[in-house]
Amino acid sequence: MEILHYFLFFGLLMSYLGICRAQDTITANQTLRDGDTLVSADEMYELGFFSRGNITNRYLGIWYKNKSPLTVAWVANRETPIRDSSGVFRVDTNGSLLVIAGSNNTVVWSSNPGPVSPPTINPVAQLLNPGNLVVRDQSGEGSLIWQSFDHPGDMFLPGIKLGKDLISGLDRRLSSWKSVDDPSPGLYEALMNTNGYPQLWVERDSVPYSRFGPWNGLTFNGIPTHISNSIYTHDFVMNDKEVYYWFTLVNTSVVTRIYFTPEGIPLRMNWNERTQMWFLYSSANIDMCSLFALCGSNGRCDPKNSPLCSCMEGFEPRNPDEWSASQWSSGCRRRTALSCSNGDGFRVFNNVKLPDTRRAWFNRSMTLGECETACKQNCSCNAYSNIDIRMNGSGCLLWFGDLMDIRTVDESQDLFVRMAVSDLTVQSIPEFTSRPAGSNKKRQTIIVVVSILSILVMVILILAILYGRRKNKRSRVKKIPVQTIDEEYIMDSQDDDTELTAFSLTKISKSTNDFANDKKLGQGGFGPVYKGVLDDGREIAVKRLSKTSRQGIGEFKNEVKFIAKLQHRNLVKLLGYCIQGDENMLIYEYMPNKSLDSFIFDKIKSFILGWSDRFRIIHGIARGLLYLHQDSRFKIVHRDLKTSNILLDVDMNPKISDFGLARMFREHENEANTNNVVGTLGYIAPEYAVDGIFSEKSDVFSFGVLVLEIVSGKKNRGFSHQNDSDNLLAHAWRLFDEGMAMELLAAHMRESCVASEVLRSVHIGLLCVQHFAKDRPTMSSVVLMFDKEGALPQPKQPAFFAKGSLPQLNLASVDDITMTTLEPR
Ligand SMILES: *[C@@H]1O[C@H](CO)[C@@H](O)[C@H](O)[C@H]1NC(C)=O
Ligand SMILES: *[C@@H]1O[C@H](CO)[C@@H](O)[C@H](O)[C@H]1NC(C)=O
Ligand SMILES: *[C@@H]1O[C@H](CO)[C@@H](O)[C@H](O)[C@H]1NC(C)=O
Ligand SMILES: *[C@@H]1O[C@H](CO)[C@@H](O)[C@H](O)[C@H]1NC(C)=O
Ligand SMILES: *[C@@H]1O[C@H](CO)[C@@H](O)[C@H](O)[C@H]1NC(C)=O
Ligand SMILES: *[C@@H]1O[C@H](CO)[C@@H](O)[C@H](O)[C@H]1NC(C)=O
Ligand SMILES: *[C@@H]1O[C@H](CO)[C@@H](O)[C@H](O)[C@H]1NC(C)=O
Ligand SMILES: *[C@@H]1O[C@H](CO)[C@@H](O)[C@H](O)[C@H]1NC(C)=O
Repeated sequence: MEILHYFLFFGLLMSYLGICRAQDTITANQTLRDGDTLVSADEMYELGFFSRGNITNRYLGIWYKNKSPLTVAWVANRETPIRDSSGVFRVDTNGSLLVIAGSNNTVVWSSNPGPVSPPTINPVAQLLNPGNLVVRDQSGEGSLIWQSFDHPGDMFLPGIKLGKDLISGLDRRLSSWKSVDDPSPGLYEALMNTNGYPQLWVERDSVPYSRFGPWNGLTFNGIPTHISNSIYTHDFVMNDKEVYYWFTLVNTSVVTRIYFTPEGIPLRMNWNERTQMWFLYSSANIDMCSLFALCGSNGRCDPKNSPLCSCMEGFEPRNPDEWSASQWSSGCRRRTALSCSNGDGFRVFNNVKLPDTRRAWFNRSMTLGECETACKQNCSCNAYSNIDIRMNGSGCLLWFGDLMDIRTVDESQDLFVRMAVSDLTVQSIPEFTSRPAGSNKKRQTIIVVVSILSILVMVILILAILYGRRKNKRSRVKKIPVQTIDEEYIMDSQDDDTELTAFSLTKISKSTNDFANDKKLGQGGFGPVYKGVLDDGREIAVKRLSKTSRQGIGEFKNEVKFIAKLQHRNLVKLLGYCIQGDENMLIYEYMPNKSLDSFIFDKIKSFILGWSDRFRIIHGIARGLLYLHQDSRFKIVHRDLKTSNILLDVDMNPKISDFGLARMFREHENEANTNNVVGTLGYIAPEYAVDGIFSEKSDVFSFGVLVLEIVSGKKNRGFSHQNDSDNLLAHAWRLFDEGMAMELLAAHMRESCVASEVLRSVHIGLLCVQHFAKDRPTMSSVVLMFDKEGALPQPKQPAFFAKGSLPQLNLASVDDITMTTLEPR
């Protein structure tokens, strides 16, 4: 009796303390209540009920054990949460998993494995090591009835087969969550598209969104060839029974997963044991060119180009007007029709992603030579390539019809595109001669044609140069300001006919839906900004100047005309104005990509801007600012340069906005209150903040802050660093001083950046944020510093080095709103 008691007590104690090994299975006569969990044998995964965010909804799911914050790997009742903690999980005698709301005894989710035989079995559900929940028949040894790996959510774990079982018809897709706190299916799905030759796809709302190309033996074509890694191996499997992509771990103690975000971006995350945090290991190339078929048929997208789209060589825009207006969907057509019978050849492209293969034909054992022959024999074949690039290449892909969704990538496999001979020869003689397409005689004619063409090209070039010279001379006579540093400078020779429209209030009011709240793009320092659509479909941004800061109508008009004359690629274009009653409004071109801060400070969108984009943006801002400072007739100090005043056009070119207004308001406000300082905390130079003195050097200071923010992806204002109480400027300077400036770069760009460009940017950024205005370079030397390779001066400690030295401002403003009123001492 005594002994029994002792055992009972000991058993209770053990289970109370959780010393017993956690269980990983349940059988048909057991239930798992909310609060209980199953734990996989390697103690890596845990199954139970959980909630997300501050919402009380309960979901049954699998998560990583002991990893914070809760990282969910799979969810059963994604769309049917239980509203209280009465949930129960069990496995039915027919093999079906059930999630039941205990309060009203309703089945909210069941796995429905389909009919099993015999209809009543002895099932067991088990949580296996890589986070896979399986149901087996205990009596019929090992036979698998159902597994969660066949129904993945937004997490692609090692061992999941992303793709199709051709026999059962099962299609395993990743499906994004609606938001980070809502597991119900969102807009995006990642799937294996098995039409034609299989490719990995992302669909948005069931419409193609982006494409990762066919598998080439090493990787999906278009994703840069994978450097072999010691963490996982991946493979694409295609046979009569199934088509899928998967990865498996080399070292099972490494934790890695691919997270398909609510924005449809696949990110590979690894767990860092030391810091106890997930970090981004790699992400697919996400940029504007990832959008499916952005450039239409036979068009080619290059993220480094502006505009993004061009036609493939040998093709021309189908609709030149639309094309030049950056509407690319109509695509390109052949410059010269194919003659088919015997005249065509092939041009090789080796830096493009292979076109969409949904309608391609393939044979995996043909050689490249057989492939070329096969393509030549069929008049509707437009291109061919190898399938597998390993071992000198093998397999054959043939494309019929238009070539869709081509983009430039750094390295890839060869794509051979059929061309009429005349298109073949214009620019690529070496390619042609190495791949003769016809008889010798034909070759001779071609060489003659080529020679004639090259002579023609030479003549045209010479003429163009001569013409350019003459034009230059003419301009010189017209007396350009002595120092035209910027080639984009547009002379204001037509002084009086700047294309500026006076819009009527009714028109503007109509275009913005009577200044509806949902049309509001933001609140600038000088008033709210609205989006409008004119009757002709043009999109505009309307800046409605606040009534308190009005000035005389004549004065305002003059000011506007003056702004209109400022034209530069990196300044937002003013289209017109509207003066009526007590309304003063400025009408600008609309920038679809909003402002820079909406990218670089956003957790997800920041991935869109890689290093090359950022470097281009820094450059563009420098040029725009130089133009403002150096324009010979007026020197304009922007006074409020910050990330939210840098807008991005459709090609991600930066455009400075709000320029000129600063000057306009300065004059106005000088009359009223000389103590008002316009600007935004975090960007204001010390002499301006403290003494109200501003000059072009205070813009240079703001520019420096901007550069450091673009590099680091962190805001100067509100910056905190775990180790010290530095602000961003001090942090950057310390790293620079210790020779570790690369550490400043946001983590996701470390692999893709050009180190010398990053170092130079940080260096120049630091020179610009020096405490004394005289130590800062002018914008013209900044632009030169970026363009030339030479040595740069050493920066000293930047302004506001110690936290206490930040000026005491009366903070009427919230965050980043302009027009903080500072009290000069
Ligand atoms: C539950 O089922 C298992 C296997 O069928 C059996 O061994 C066990 O005795 C049952 N437990 C109870 C409490 O019925
Ligand atoms: C809780 O959620 C509501 C809306 O879902 C949100 O407004 C609120 O800020 C959240 N509270 C906390 C503490 O996260
Ligand atoms: C039972 O509860 C679930 C979850 O709380 C709810 O979705 C369902 O509508 C309820 N059913 C009934 C019949 O009340
Ligand atoms: C298994 O049982 C559950 C609940 O008893 C039921 O909802 C489900 O339809 C059954 N499935 C099959 C295949 O019989
Ligand atoms: C596996 O990874 C762990 C942790 O990263 C490491 O300690 C171990 O040496 C690795 N094992 C092998 C066989 O590489
Ligand atoms: C693929 O090509 C090989 C070699 O040319 C040929 O033997 C085979 O029949 C072809 N297969 C199909 C399905 O066309
Ligand atoms: C060319 O290929 C297309 C598509 O595979 C096929 O429909 C057509 O019959 C082929 N034509 C010839 C002449 O082989
Ligand atoms: C690849 O091609 C080269 C040169 O043509 C040849 O020497 C080599 O043996 C080939 N390799 C294989 C694996 O076929």
